[in-house]
Amino acid sequence: MCGIIGYLGPRKAVDVIIDSLKRLEYRGYDSAGIAIHNGKKISIIKRKGKISDLEEKIKENPLPGNLGIGHTRWATHGKPNDINAHPHKVGRIVLVHNGIIENYKRLKEKLTKEGIEFYSETDTEVITALINYYYKGNIIETLMKAIGELEGSLAIALITEESDNLLVGYRKDSPLILGVGDGEMFLASDMPALLPYTRRFIPLDDEELVVIEGKDYRIMREGKVINKKITVVNWDPISAEKGGFKHFMLKEIFEQPRAIGDTIRGMYSFEDRDFYVFKDNNNFDLTKLSNIRKIMLVACGTSYHACLTSKYWFESLARIEVETEIASEFRYRDLLNLDGTLAIFVSQSGETIDTLQAMRMAKKKRAITLGIVNVIGSTIAREADIVTYTHAGPEIGVASTKAFTSQLAVLFILTLYLSKIRNTLTVNEVETYYQELLKIPRIIENYIKQANREMEKLSNNFLDYQSFLYLGRNLMYPIALEGALKLKEISYIHAEGYPAGEMKHGPIALIDNRMPVVILAPTGKVYEKTKSNIEEVNSRDGISIIFTDDTNNELDDKGVYVFKVPTIVEPLKPFIYVIPLQLLAYHIANKKGLDVDQPRNLAKSVTVE
Ligand code: M6R
Repeated sequence: MCGIIGYLGPRKAVDVIIDSLKRLEYRGYDSAGIAIHNGKKISIIKRKGKISDLEEKIKENPLPGNLGIGHTRWATHGKPNDINAHPHKVGRIVLVHNGIIENYKRLKEKLTKEGIEFYSETDTEVITALINYYYKGNIIETLMKAIGELEGSLAIALITEESDNLLVGYRKDSPLILGVGDGEMFLASDMPALLPYTRRFIPLDDEELVVIEGKDYRIMREGKVINKKITVVNWDPISAEKGGFKHFMLKEIFEQPRAIGDTIRGMYSFEDRDFYVFKDNNNFDLTKLSNIRKIMLVACGTSYHACLTSKYWFESLARIEVETEIASEFRYRDLLNLDGTLAIFVSQSGETIDTLQAMRMAKKKRAITLGIVNVIGSTIAREADIVTYTHAGPEIGVASTKAFTSQLAVLFILTLYLSKIRNTLTVNEVETYYQELLKIPRIIENYIKQANREMEKLSNNFLDYQSFLYLGRNLMYPIALEGALKLKEISYIHAEGYPAGEMKHGPIALIDNRMPVVILAPTGKVYEKTKSNIEEVNSRDGISIIFTDDTNNELDDKGVYVFKVPTIVEPLKPFIYVIPLQLLAYHIANKKGLDVDQPRNLAKSVTVE
C-alpha cells in the first residue's frame, strides 16, 4: 500500500520528494519519512502522521543534498509510529518499501542470531538488514542475492552511505515507475506523483531492477541489462490538483462529464461503422472474441459495482452468460478450465493485488483476459491479453467517483461491441445506443449543479444518523450498493445496499422512524415492483428518500424527500442515479468535518492482500 519516491538530479532533493509524496498520500498516510544524502552522510527525518507533519519537522532541520528517497506509509507490520516509519537504515543501506514480506519473521530470527539488532516491528527493516548483511560493495550482486531470499511483494528505493550519486529501485508485485527527466531521474509508485517534473516514464515489470547513476540509468532483469521503451503520457498536472474545489472528491464528481467524454471518444466510428475499443491487444487475435461462450467480471469495491451493473447489459443486449465475482473471493476458488471465457478485470489503479492475482489465475486456466484500467502502464494493463483504458485522469480522492462512471462507459461500449460481433443487435441498434451514450456527458453536466445543491441541503438532516439503507432493483441494485459504499467509507455511517425485493427477507426489521431509506425508483421494467417497496418503507415510518425520473410525478407525495433526475433511456440510468448518491455522501462527510479525501483506515490503491 504505501507510496515511495526517489530522486537524483540537480535540484534540492528534499523539495522534489516532499512535493511528490503529497501526490502519493492517497496510498497511505499513517507516517511519512525522508532520507537525503548531503555528499558526506545520509540524514533521515521521519514521523507518525501526514506529510504536513513531516514538513514541519524538516523546517527545523533543513536537509541539503541532491539524492534522496521518501515514503508515505499505510501500516501493515507494526503500528503507525515514528520508529516504524520509513526510511529504514541498517549499516550503510537506507531503504523505503511498499509491499509485504511474508517470511520476514524467519529472516529476522536468522539475522538476530548473527548479532543484528532490530528497532522497529517492520518487515522493511528486515529487508534493509539482509541487504546490508550481504553488502560488500557491489549493490547489484547484493540485491540479487538478498531478493532471492525474500518471499512476498516489494517495491523498494534504496541509497547507500558510500555514494551520493547512486539510486536503486526494484519491483516484484508492487508498482514502481522510473521517471526520466532532463538531467534528473525519479522513482515513484505512480506516474501522477511526478507529473510536474516529467511525462516520460518506464513502468518496471516484476523482478526488474533499475540502477540510476548520475544522469544515466540501466534496467536489469536476471542480472542482464534490458532495453525498455519510454512511455510518454499527456496527463495535465493541473488535473491532479484540486482546481478550486475544497476536496479532490468533489472535484472528481464534477469532472465526470469530461471523464466519460474522454473515455468514449473515438471508440466507435460512424464512418467505418466499427468499434475501436482495445488500446493494446499485445498481438492477441481479436477474432477469438466472436467465439466466447461466457463472460466473467472480476474486481473489488467500486470497480466491482461497475462489473455488477454491466452484467445486466451483457445479458440483455449481448445475450451472453455472465458471472460476476469479487476478486478476493475469485482467487481462492477451485476453478475449472476457462476455455471460451472472456475474463474481464476492472481496476482504476490497475494495481489492486486481489484483482491482479485473480487475473493471473484466470490466465493459467486459459481464459482470455481483458483489463479495464485507468492507469496507463499499470500491472494489470501490462499483463492482460487485451487492454482498454478509462480516461478519467488521475483519481486522487480515496472514494472512487469519476473512475466508476468511466468504467461504466467502457463496459457499455464493450457490451455494444460484443452485441455487434455476436449479431444480437443490428448495426443500427448499436448506433442508436451509442448515440444515447454520447449524450450522457452533456446530461450530467446540465444536472450536476442542481444535484449538488439538493444533496448539500439534504445532508444537513442526516449528520447524526447511525445507519442508512439503500434500495434498488435490477440496474439500480449495484447503484444502491455503490451509494452505500460511498457513504460508509467517507462518513463512517453504517450503510447497507440491498436489492429492494429482498428487503422483506430481513432488513425490513430495521425500519423505523430513525432509519433513512434511499430508494432508487426510475421508471421502466421494475418500477411497479419498486413502488411496492416504497409503500413497505412508508408504512413502517422509515424516512424515505426517493430518486425518480423527472418525467414521473406519481411519487411526488410518496417520500419524506423526493428528488428528480434527468430521464434517459433505461439501460443508461445508472450513470445518472449514481451522481446524487456520490454528492450526498460527500456533503454528509464534509459537514461532519471528516477527512473526505483520505478517510481513516483506507488507501487508494490496495496493493496488499
Ligand atoms: O483501483 P481499483 O479500482 O482496483 O480499486 C478497487 C477498490 O479498492 C476501490 O474501488 C475502493 O473500493 C474505493 N475506495 C471505493 O470508493
